[in-house]
Amino acid sequence: MVFRVYVTSNEIPEEALEIIRRVAEVKVNDKDGSPQREVLLREVAGVDGLYCNINEKIDAELMDAGKKLRVVASMSVGFDHIDQEAATRRGILTTNTPGVLTEAVADETFALILDVARRITEADKYVRDGRWRVKWTPMLMVGRDVYGKTLGIYGLGRIGVAVANRAKGFNMKVIYHDLFRNMELEKKYGIEYRSKEEVIRESDFLSVHVPLLPETRNSIGAKELAMMKKTAFIINTARGGVVDEKALIDALSAGMIAGAALDVFEREPIGMDNPLLKMDNVVLAPHLASGSIESRAAMAVLAAKNMVAALEGELPSNLLNKDAYRHPAAAASKA
Ligand code: DGY
Repeated sequence: MVFRVYVTSNEIPEEALEIIRRVAEVKVNDKDGSPQREVLLREVAGVDGLYCNINEKIDAELMDAGKKLRVVASMSVGFDHIDQEAATRRGILTTNTPGVLTEAVADETFALILDVARRITEADKYVRDGRWRVKWTPMLMVGRDVYGKTLGIYGLGRIGVAVANRAKGFNMKVIYHDLFRNMELEKKYGIEYRSKEEVIRESDFLSVHVPLLPETRNSIGAKELAMMKKTAFIINTARGGVVDEKALIDALSAGMIAGAALDVFEREPIGMDNPLLKMDNVVLAPHLASGSIESRAAMAVLAAKNMVAALEGELPSNLLNKDAYRHPAAAASKA
């Protein structure tokens, strides 16, 4: 059987495309960026596999347009852009790329912690703007220590653990909150479990690592921000919707917290009228936490392998919806 796969980005490394080409005819979006919705709806009709990323909304309408669609392989660890229930109901397998981006995201998280605490981006701008006129000034742009402070991890998944591990080198006290307490990790990394409220209250740096789910949407809102220390910073490399952006802007404007470092936003790209753009105590990045050359290549290859496994009727390593694998539609494609 010759499978057909549509790839939504023209930036996927050849190495990954080659893996899919071994079993399928591959069509790559020939335009830069994500395909327009109507293009995607058209392209998905007639393909067995869709190789996508977080730019594309993979919902019931799209799945219905993909009459033969059997697998959606996303080059991302997050999967809030895919309606899992709709996919499972239709026997469409969905996959993501966990693990291979963990260290890259943790690196960026730590870079953001250091940046916002020590005002690196602000200082860089100061120098470039020609405002550096005196050789050394005792209190010029003084920031906050990172070394020895308390880091709060909200969501102790792989990335949260990797951030906690880096914090050891900075002699930080690491506390965490997660739905599940993990004594083994507590012992291994010398970290301490707290209630959500305690983590928020005690942290000097509160780093967000929960996925975006209905239960976590806006789970850091006005009430939570009001509990934080006035000297504390919030860092978000997870998903914009987890932190209520309007509440965050209000808290920053009112000086309720010291600053924020954000890689993700409620609306991406961020609107040029977003008040965050005007705040010196906020470091902004365009959703690139996993953006190392090594990590992106590994994500692309892993997504391709997941795609091939699903097309060939095998269990992909990173299957998100196990029930879809048992669905009669998926079983038919294995026959
Ligand atoms: C992901 O993988 O979910 C990121 O947000 C994009 O790298």
